[in-house]
Amino acid sequence: MKRTRIREALNAAAGMERILVQGWVRTKRDAKDFSFLEINDGSCLKNIQVIVAASIPAYESLKTVTTGAAVEVEGALAESPGSGQQWELKASTLRLLGAADAASYPLQKKRHSDEFLRTIAHLRPRTNKYGALFRIRSESSFAVHQFFRDRGFYYLHTPIITGSDCEGAGELFRVTTLPLIPSAGAPRESLYEADFFGKEANLTVSGQLEAELFACALGSVYTFGPTFRAENSNTPRHAAEFWMIEPEVAFADLQDNMDLGEDLVQNLTAHVMDHCQSDLELFARFVDKDLMANLELIAGESYARLPYAEAVAILKASGKAFEFPVEFGTDLQTEHERFLCEAHFRKPVIVYNYPKEIKPFYMRLNDDDQTVAAMDLLVPRVGELIGGSQREERLDVLERRITAGGLHKEDYWWYLDIRRFGTVPHSGFGLGFERFLMMVTGVTNIRDVIPFPRTPKHLEF
Ligand code: 4AD
Ligand code: MG
Repeated sequence: MKRTRIREALNAAAGMERILVQGWVRTKRDAKDFSFLEINDGSCLKNIQVIVAASIPAYESLKTVTTGAAVEVEGALAESPGSGQQWELKASTLRLLGAADAASYPLQKKRHSDEFLRTIAHLRPRTNKYGALFRIRSESSFAVHQFFRDRGFYYLHTPIITGSDCEGAGELFRVTTLPLIPSAGAPRESLYEADFFGKEANLTVSGQLEAELFACALGSVYTFGPTFRAENSNTPRHAAEFWMIEPEVAFADLQDNMDLGEDLVQNLTAHVMDHCQSDLELFARFVDKDLMANLELIAGESYARLPYAEAVAILKASGKAFEFPVEFGTDLQTEHERFLCEAHFRKPVIVYNYPKEIKPFYMRLNDDDQTVAAMDLLVPRVGELIGGSQREERLDVLERRITAGGLHKEDYWWYLDIRRFGTVPHSGFGLGFERFLMMVTGVTNIRDVIPFPRTPKHLEF
């Protein structure tokens, strides 16, 4: 008999003579002539209630069925007389598929802390909260592809192992097959000769440079894949391995880029609100009471847009004592970003035209020679969700910026070539997928939106 997912069973329009359900036991309660089992199969937040009457042969085997065990139940789906659920399953047969040692099963009925659940990441998705979270993560991924497909973008797979540093921030994980990793200061060529690629190799921090090459061929592309940064900052917003969505569009300027970023964030948020209603409700009840109001705002309001210089002026005039003082030329910190979104504008904010000194070499230099055509999209609670820019399409300016940044022109010959052969204005950005999930669920630690998080000194599972 074909298995019915619990989600389907609970959404049934009418009772059913016979269905087969498989899942894990959440609780067992014994009454006089029968027992109740609550079973969850991960297809939705809700459990199905199973009634096992003392009169059926399988009743005897119930002794071995404890919380956490995997079971298979066949029976009739019938209207439930009890409150709290519309349907219940009257078992005719019950089979234990995998027992769970009741004494050592770590998930109890009470609520566990996020910190504790991280230490059992292999069982974490069996809880209500994390089941909901990872269903939302899955649905959001789907929404990303749908958004871009609907707009004529092509999905591009950029390499995970690269020989260049896109951001120039030196936060690279090195890839080598050598028993000893050459030290950073050693002469480059000779040491890497014996290595697998014959040159220094790293895990990518961004697929942008490669995406630019394809945008200048296919017109509009996006990447959606893992990126890696050896940032030794143990913050609740940074992971060593995270997923980034990077659209790149030819013949597009900074304005177009801001429009696309705003459209994407609004659209993804609305998609999750439409498709993950019951899972979101859990976060609105237990994690963040203002979640739904915040999401309405993000999905529905147009975002504030202002140049970096104005943002700095607002922050300085606020009279608020920030931990990090702001001056023109300093990078905005999360506390400043959140102030702009939460206290000043009370909605998402796009800040553009940042000083060139604090942004990477590839951003287009503005006519003032001081700022670049950068844009960051900031959201309440999280701060920076998107970082992007119009790209420098002028060969001579780009060469100067590479050299000024202490990088080697020769390493970027292919990137520069695109400016030699049919160069066009183009723009793109990166959206941190985990930051989006934090925003949409109200979860405040990035570790709690990643199935198996990687952060400094943490590489379990
Ligand atoms: O602002 P970033 O560094 O921009 C880039 O990498 C560009 N090359 C993207 C592009 O233009 N194609 O990173 C983009 C976003 C950030 O806004 C943030 O949401 C997220 O990626 N991010 C991180 N998320 C989790 N952990 C980290 N360590 C992150 N670093 C950046
Ligand atoms: Mg950034």
